[in-house]
Amino acid sequence: MWCPEGLDEVEAELLGPTEELKGKDVLEIGAGAAQCARWLAGQGARPVALDLSHRQLQHALRIGAGFPLVQADAAVLPFADGSFDLACSAYGALPFVADPRLVLREVRRVLRPGGRFVFSVTHPMRWAFPDEPGPEGLSVSASYFDRTPYVEQDDEGRAVYVEHHRTLGDRVRDVVTSGFRLVDLVEPEWPDWNTSEWGGWSPLRGHLIPGTAIFVCERD
Ligand SMILES: C[S@@+](CC[C@H](N)C(=O)[O-])C[C@H]1O[C@@H](n2cnc3c(N)ncnc32)[C@H](O)[C@@H]1O
Repeated sequence: MWCPEGLDEVEAELLGPTEELKGKDVLEIGAGAAQCARWLAGQGARPVALDLSHRQLQHALRIGAGFPLVQADAAVLPFADGSFDLACSAYGALPFVADPRLVLREVRRVLRPGGRFVFSVTHPMRWAFPDEPGPEGLSVSASYFDRTPYVEQDDEGRAVYVEHHRTLGDRVRDVVTSGFRLVDLVEPEWPDWNTSEWGGWSPLRGHLIPGTAIFVCERD
């Protein structure tokens, strides 16, 4: 599943035809509980699931992972050059690093020539709107151009959650200057079957403004 809209890889085939995943080495970045890697393994691919968080990887182990789980920063990948055919990320790592080019360059390095990296992030347009599922989430309340990160702090003032904003132009520039060719930019529409509402996600908002941007990139 690429995004809260509910677009899945069986439908989208952004990594290429599903029947061709068999035997492919695939790196999942910011894997969380490794849902994507688990699905990829089910298709006969050889996934590696990477996340910064030990706790997330413990969840992956608990649910079941017959593939390697790696705890590492996506900006410093512990793999040799050209180790993977494909890389993917569903809302993993990229929204949470101050300079996503560090991640993109590392992913490019570990991909084989022609390798594809597909990643989804919050659609940059959402930054300008309050994160509310109702009508209050439909009025612009902040500048789309303000790159000041969103930070939540604990009682001692330590940052416990940080999200960084890149405009659409920033993201395209990041991809291209990191040595990728942008093959597609997918903005999934909210499907009628999806009636779920949580956080800032809802059919009301989903039918009016994009929520997710999926970048399909190929290593030059
Ligand atoms: C929103 S979750 C997405 C998890 C999973 N991909 C999913 O679809 O449920 C973001 C994940 O990125 C991981 N992450 C954040 N910064 C990272 C970094 N610098 N390197 C690797 N993983 C990171 C977090 O630990 C978290 O598991």
